[in-house]
Parts: sequence; C-alpha cells; structure tokens
Amino acid sequence: MSDKPDLKAFLPADLAKNLSEPKSHAELMKHKRLTDNAFPHVRMRRLRQNAAIRDMVRENNLSPDDFIYPLFIEENTSERSEIKSLPGIYRETEKSMGAVVKEAAREGVRGVMVFGVSHHKDHTGSDSMDPNGLLARMIDRAKQASPETAVIADLCFCEYTDHGHCGPINERGDVDNDKTIENIAMQAEVAAEAGADIVAPSGMMDGQVSVIRHALDVTGFTHIPVMAYAAKFASNFYGPFRDAAGCSLGHVENVPKHRKTYQMDPANGREAIRDALMDEAEGADILMVKPGMAYLDILKELRQKTDLPLAAYQVSGEYAMMKFAAQAGALNFQDVMLESLMAFKRAGADMVLSYSAIEAARWIKNA
Ligand code: PBG
Repeated sequence: MSDKPDLKAFLPADLAKNLSEPKSHAELMKHKRLTDNAFPHVRMRRLRQNAAIRDMVRENNLSPDDFIYPLFIEENTSERSEIKSLPGIYRETEKSMGAVVKEAAREGVRGVMVFGVSHHKDHTGSDSMDPNGLLARMIDRAKQASPETAVIADLCFCEYTDHGHCGPINERGDVDNDKTIENIAMQAEVAAEAGADIVAPSGMMDGQVSVIRHALDVTGFTHIPVMAYAAKFASNFYGPFRDAAGCSLGHVENVPKHRKTYQMDPANGREAIRDALMDEAEGADILMVKPGMAYLDILKELRQKTDLPLAAYQVSGEYAMMKFAAQAGALNFQDVMLESLMAFKRAGADMVLSYSAIEAARWIKNA
C-alpha cells in the first residue's frame, strides 16, 4: 500500500474520472464543486420537502386541550361591550358569560379564567372575599354553564380595589404584603366554595402560595390545585387588560402608578427562576410565566428546572399587537397567532392562556 493518500477518493466519481493524479490537496480542491464541500452528507431540506414528511417530523403540536380562555365579566350591566383596545373581545355580562363558556367548551377549550369588572370597589377589594360577590358569582355561573370546563379563579385584588393595586396600601404607600396574603387566603376559600376547579394567585405577594395551600387544606379543599403566576413581570403589555378590567393605575394620589414593588423587573431572569421555584416549594401545582412572547427564555429555562406543568400567559398587549397589525394589513392574524401559540409549546408550555383560545381551537379543528 502506498503511503500517499488516494486524493481522488475525495471527489465524486464523475469528477475524478477525467482528472490526472492531483499533486496536492489544494490542487484537488480546485476540482471540487463548491457544494461537495459544503454539504458532504447532511441536507436539512430532505425532511422539509413535502407535507407528509413535515407532518411526521413535527416536534410540537397545538391542540384545543392546551388552551385556557380568559374572560371578562362586568356586573350591574345588561349589555356586553367590546373592549376597544382588544378588538373581538368583550366585557360579558353575568347573563351573557354562560354562552361564551359554553362556546369555549364546544370548541374543545378545557379551561376558562374569569376576571371581574367590579362596580363595588373599596380599599381592600372586599367584594372579592364576599361569598355573594362578583368573583363567587362568576365562578358559579361558569360552572353552571359548563360543568366539565375547568374554571380557574384569578386570585388578585386589583379588579376590586378603588386604587387599582393588588392589595391594601400601607402607611408607606406600598401594597401591604402580609395583609394581602391574609386576604388572599379568604379569597381562595370563597373561590373554592363557589366551585372553582383551580385557583391562580396573580398578585406576586411573597408567601401567597403557601397561605392559599394552607387555607384550602384546612377548609376541606385539599383537592383544589394552585396555578401560581410564578414569574409575573411588571409589564407594559398588560395595558389593554387594565382598560378591560378597569384596574388602571394613576388616578389616585399618593399611590404608586406602577406595580414594580411586587411584580418583577423585566431585566431579571435569574430572579424569575428563583421566584418560580419558591412557588413550587410552597406547594404550587402548576407554574405560570407571564407575559408570554417576550419571556420565552424564562419559560424554557423553567422547563429545565422543574417537572411541574407549565403555563404561559399570552397577555392582552400581545393579542392587541397582532390584532392591530392585522387590521392595518401588515400581518395575517390567524397565521401569526397560531405561530405564536406554537412558540409557547416549543419553549416548554403545557398550557397557554390566550384571548384567541376559542378561535384558535376552531382553526385547529378545521385545519
Ligand atoms: C391581575 C392581572 C393582570 C393581568 C392578569 N391578571 C393585570 C396586572 O397585573 O396588571 C394581565 C393580563 C393581560 O394583560 O392579559 N393582577
């Protein structure tokens, strides 16, 4: 055997045929096609060439089972009204909400989350701790409309306080953490009593998951899971929600115009993971990341650090961005919405809250 390598063996047979023995590797390379070098064996496009193959190798799928629909319900009104900053989404009345919950169920959406638009606001948000208050009535109505739907109670006070914050304000002008979690324990009990299948504390108060777990356990609701808004950022993407739920800030003097003392700084990733894992340690059954699209890194990292089911909340501002861009003719709403929902699955979400949940379920079924 010669100790000189057979350089021609590097070339495809049709090129090697007419070539005299190359003297060097460099000379050999002159005779190679550019593509021979760049793509020796692997061609990624092989598995993209037709729909059947693409369907077979698809890593993630969207199903109506993944979706939770957030729903706004206004009391003391007889007309449902469209929310200007969320085209296509309505403040339902206590009467009209049943039909929407039924429609969600018909399309295969498994869960709804109810948000109140209160006409009985006070300093603590006491209406939400009243067994006959709006929170309890919405849960009961949703359950009556569709017993097989998981009714998720958002546990927070901002929709029920006159100043719009997520708990009572203390003498320092800040939300009082420990008073709020005492109240949230009562709110959890009222929600469970009214028939909620899952409670979802969203106030970002320290210790809220553990007091809720304890309160539910001592009142006979050991079976009710807690879906923790585990990493909830102080986000500008909540704007349309605050219009919808009537919990904007800034209309009361000497009260902060932001929620940065309890919701998280959008700059912080490690803190988000710490906070979420703390909720797991406090007994949360499901962890949520919110908002969605701008925080997929948090979702993905959390997926690697916990075995709990994960939820992503595609918030009002995300829906509005896509909706208004589509109305201006810049995007196709259905296509970008489905793409964005798939991104949550890819990043590791087991379930997604979206204002498009019902229509997305329909699109998927009819695809
Ligand atoms: C209540 C709450 C908010 C959202 C869900 N629950 C508002 C906020 O924290 O300011 C926002 C949801 C959305 O924008 O779609 N704390």
